[in-house]
Amino acid sequence: MSRRIAVILGGRSSENPISIASAASVVGALERGGNEVVTVQIDREGHWQLGPGTKAIESGDRLPGQEVATTLSGVDVVFPVLHGPFGEDGTVQGLLELANVPYVGAGVLGSALCMDKDVFKAVLRDAGVPVTENITLRLGDEARNPFGYPVFVKPARLGSSVGITKAHSVSELQEGVRLAFEHDEKVLVERFVSGAEVEVGVLGNRKPIASLPGEIVVTHNEWYDYEAKYDEGEMDLIVPARLTEGQIERAQELAVRSFVATECEGMARADLFVRDDGEVLVNELNTIPGFTSTSVYARLFDASGIGYAELLERLADLAVERFERRRQLRF
Ligand SMILES: Nc1ncnc2c1ncn2[C@@H]1O[C@H](COP(=O)(O)OP(=O)(O)OP(=O)(O)O)[C@@H](O)[C@H]1O
Ligand SMILES: [Mg+2]
Repeated sequence: MSRRIAVILGGRSSENPISIASAASVVGALERGGNEVVTVQIDREGHWQLGPGTKAIESGDRLPGQEVATTLSGVDVVFPVLHGPFGEDGTVQGLLELANVPYVGAGVLGSALCMDKDVFKAVLRDAGVPVTENITLRLGDEARNPFGYPVFVKPARLGSSVGITKAHSVSELQEGVRLAFEHDEKVLVERFVSGAEVEVGVLGNRKPIASLPGEIVVTHNEWYDYEAKYDEGEMDLIVPARLTEGQIERAQELAVRSFVATECEGMARADLFVRDDGEVLVNELNTIPGFTSTSVYARLFDASGIGYAELLERLADLAVERFERRRQLRF
């Protein structure tokens, strides 16, 4: 179906370049699918600009200007292809709710919940979903680690492994906590999980489906850090993951249960661990996962029989379906 679609890209977070790469793939495929695509680019300073080829809004305008607002509210669907804070965390979703326009992916609450690894896990624990164990440090707290070494230290609300340390000693813990606090006011110290790293794509609104699980095999580095994610040839994705039938089903079940428990809609990529003893744990959900045609999310669905172009069309359909559904509510 041919639609007018606005793709929002860039963003204030350190994942800005990843977003630009994702968006290039998304725009290309949507155009090839017969859609009319306009782009709205947000730069690292938070300036919004219609692009490319369209003239910029007055310089110094830090909020979406008139032209951007008119563009966003005049399309059939908005596709925010933004990763991390100020994009994947409910902020842009709130703006799109106010603009009263259908948009792809999780709403305000689901986006905010999945962005915050600390609150996310609290919600999942309440839903009986097994998650990785952690303590939470807040600004001013001393570094501490009840789990032994190695241990993972993470900013609560970021992505792409930015600011994350695998600490092997007290000094690395302290350095890791210091680094993580540069990125966020809340930091997780998380028990190391020894096992396989598995990702599952989830697609849908009320009745979401799970892709085949894929297994992440890091070929150069010790763990799945920024380089392993984005440098050519440093990661192998094995689909389906080398798991038992039972573990595959369990990973898919937990991915979908996490999606529902955190109020996700449209899409998410669930990151899980299959521990050496066979237990499956949820690590996190990414509500706007990397979205080039060779990104993990797209490859998982491709291996499950839904190609990239169809995936994008389905996401646009889901955005419209939610919009129409919610329009029936009496607020
Ligand atoms: N508790 C843990 N035990 C073992 N490895 C871990 C643990 N936590 C994180 N890792 C490793 O660090 C990587 C990044 O962690 P995580 O997925 O939490 O961060 P992220 O920055 O949000 O990633 P994404 O790019 O998926 O948004 C994981 O893919 C995994 O390789
Ligand atoms: Mg992850």
